[in-house]
Amino acid sequence: MNEETIFQSSLSSPSLQNHQLPILPLKNMAILPKSIIPIVVGRKTSIKAVEAALQGDRMVFITAQRDTNLDKPGLEDLYDYGTRSTILQVVRMPKGGLKILVEGICRSRIITSDTNQEYLSAYCTDITTLITSSSIELEALWRHTRTKYTQYCQLNNKIPADLLPETASSLEIEHALDTVLVHITIPLEERQKFLEIMELSDRILYICKILDREITIFETEERIKASIQSQVEKNQREYYLNEQIKAINKELGRDDQQVEIQHIRTKAKKLRLPQECAEKVERELKRLENMPSSSAEASVIRHYIEWLLALPWHKISRDNISIADAEKILNKQHAGLKKPKERIIEFLAARKFSNALKKSPIICLVGPPGVGKTSLASAIAESLGREFRRIPLGGLRDEAEIRGHRRTYISALPGKILQAMRHVSTVNPVILLDEIDKMSMDAHGDPSAALLEVLDPEQNKAFFDHFLEVSYDLSQVVFIATANQLDGIPYPLHDRMELIFLSGYSEQEKLDIAQKFLLPRNLKEHNLTARKCKISEDILLLLIREYTREAGVRQLERILTKILRKVIQLFLDEPSRASCVLTPKLVREWLGHSKFKIKPLNVTEERIGLASGLAWTEVGGDLLEIETSIVTGKGNVTLTGQLGDVMQESAYAALTYIRSRAPQLGLKPNFNTTKDIHIHIPEGATPKDGPSAGITLCTSIVSEMTKNPVNPLVAMTGEITLRGRVLPVGGLKEKILAASQHGIKTVILPRDNKDEIDEMQAEINTRDITLKFVDTMDEVLEQALLRSPFSKPLKTSKRDDDYAQVSKAS
Ligand SMILES: Nc1ncnc2c1ncn2[C@@H]1O[C@H](COP(=O)(O)OP(=O)(O)OP(=O)(O)O)[C@@H](O)[C@H]1O
Ligand SMILES: [Mg+2]
Repeated sequence: MNEETIFQSSLSSPSLQNHQLPILPLKNMAILPKSIIPIVVGRKTSIKAVEAALQGDRMVFITAQRDTNLDKPGLEDLYDYGTRSTILQVVRMPKGGLKILVEGICRSRIITSDTNQEYLSAYCTDITTLITSSSIELEALWRHTRTKYTQYCQLNNKIPADLLPETASSLEIEHALDTVLVHITIPLEERQKFLEIMELSDRILYICKILDREITIFETEERIKASIQSQVEKNQREYYLNEQIKAINKELGRDDQQVEIQHIRTKAKKLRLPQECAEKVERELKRLENMPSSSAEASVIRHYIEWLLALPWHKISRDNISIADAEKILNKQHAGLKKPKERIIEFLAARKFSNALKKSPIICLVGPPGVGKTSLASAIAESLGREFRRIPLGGLRDEAEIRGHRRTYISALPGKILQAMRHVSTVNPVILLDEIDKMSMDAHGDPSAALLEVLDPEQNKAFFDHFLEVSYDLSQVVFIATANQLDGIPYPLHDRMELIFLSGYSEQEKLDIAQKFLLPRNLKEHNLTARKCKISEDILLLLIREYTREAGVRQLERILTKILRKVIQLFLDEPSRASCVLTPKLVREWLGHSKFKIKPLNVTEERIGLASGLAWTEVGGDLLEIETSIVTGKGNVTLTGQLGDVMQESAYAALTYIRSRAPQLGLKPNFNTTKDIHIHIPEGATPKDGPSAGITLCTSIVSEMTKNPVNPLVAMTGEITLRGRVLPVGGLKEKILAASQHGIKTVILPRDNKDEIDEMQAEINTRDITLKFVDTMDEVLEQALLRSPFSKPLKTSKRDDDYAQVSKAS
């Protein structure tokens, strides 16, 4: 043992007055009479003071520093009131310094200082306690203190409960109070204040106050402890239960599921799902947690959540393509189509210019098959710099195809719209609703009704899919629809769309497309070059005229690929061959005899009762021959050749007109009661309808009745009224093209269509056709029949002198 005991005593000394004592200043501590405490003495002056005391009567004056940070305090830095104490034991520490045990003897006070260089010392006087209260008062105060103390001891079990005797003399009270205060932890200032109180009753009251406060603190502390405890218990309980669930899940083989669920949660957080959707995912995950992973329902939920997470919610493609670039992209892929392209560029410019126009109407490209509607839509997507997805609507019958099936159905899926969104994975793609006119409805609802919501910019912000169950924002999607005919589109849908018409191509346009696009593209695809495989303009024209019959260019492309395959075969058979020049002979050999060779009109044939009409079909225009035969009978009218209601009504209107003109035409007034009339339009397998055959029907009947032949080089189109007025019709471009292909020289058209035709003159470009515009049926007959039909002059007859001759003008 390194410590050396220097001195040990338990003596105490009697009361002293004005006695010189070495001072031991303490940091942060005040010592009270009757307490014995150990003190470590480290400061040199303090060690000297202790040593001085040891040489005398072992008495020191112990007091506290006012400022605990001072290392060398002077007398003025110390409290005047302190405790005269006796050093009971001194132990020297191995690293210097002393450990002393001191006992407080009595309260004492510095009177005057003592100038001593080596250590602090002063003249001190012991303080005697004042007792001014009566013994009754003291007793009362004492009892009160005891009660408080007992209460305090119950709360703080670290202090002895028997420090305060039941009955005590004032001296005993004084000692007991000092002892009690030793056991209570209070700040230095309060302890010092207690030390300085002279009056015994004041000291009792002071202690009572401290006890009161400590009791309150203890009680509050207990309360806090209790509430913390209950929280901890709750947490523990939850933890325990969770652990139990985990254990059960493990037993049931649901361990991987937990990992998966956690994985889904993290993914959902990263995706920043809209609140409604995030809540839905969380709800479903909670359900998933509580069911075995292999159950059927769990796999339904997993499938559902997977869909929610796979849909795009925020990702957009930035379109930074200029209008000029967009125009280039459109021209790069499509020849001609001047008007539709202009309209599309207008639409793109409007979208680019203003955010408000992001709600611009949905475009619908209308036109016959193969004219490039679908490929134009994909070019629009490219020129917008966006993702593209095509949704084929042809043959769609069920609303669920658009809106999805409810999750309760086995293998349910969202509708085609959301499937497309998942595929493009951006929120602003171009979606093509292809063949919107080919949808139909059945018992499962009407898909077009669901499309109404999709195509309405006001509603599609919150599109509702039965499978998804949360609303989905489609407002940034550009929808483009395509249709062959307007008739197939329900009116409300039609009303929401801006229509852009694409008409069929003329021979020249087809040739242009073939030369610029179809041939180069297909040569490249077949690994051939224009030098190796020479296909001249004449050959292309031959293919267009004799092997295809269409408004668009699809068949043409198919035939071209067929020819290219044959060319490849030729090169394989004759490896030394350098090139292949296509000749009409070769074409015939490879493709067989021409399929659609237009039969030259039989000009020599007596064309009594045989008139040529012009019809619009889905594959372009066509020449329609109408035959009438009149035999003796009772006035029956028979119409054959699958004529629709409108066409039949046109025939009756024509008959009524003829009856009204009977005298002028040289017919007997009762001709209709003695003859049976049979009108037939060949190619009976194809249904025909529409009012535009009216004037042709009439011409055919008049020709047959008056035995006046129809000019074989004349074709016509126009609706007839009862009074013989000629009304405008549609599909003129296709009709005129068809007439030109069939070698017709004159086309009779309603005058009301003249403006329209003037506008498209450049597009039609018919070299050898004369267009004649008429107002009345009388004029038609004058033009179409070889001899003048009217034996008597017509009062209302009005000859048109300024028949337009489009070809010659252009
Ligand atoms: N003006 C054109 N320029 C270049 N190629 C064209 C043009 N028009 C059509 N095509 C080509 O013709 C083919 C058929 O076009 P597309 O499939 O777009 O026709 P569509 O109008 O959608 O027909 P459908 O109504 O039958 O769906 C495509 O390969 C397309 O590139
Ligand atoms: Mg198409």
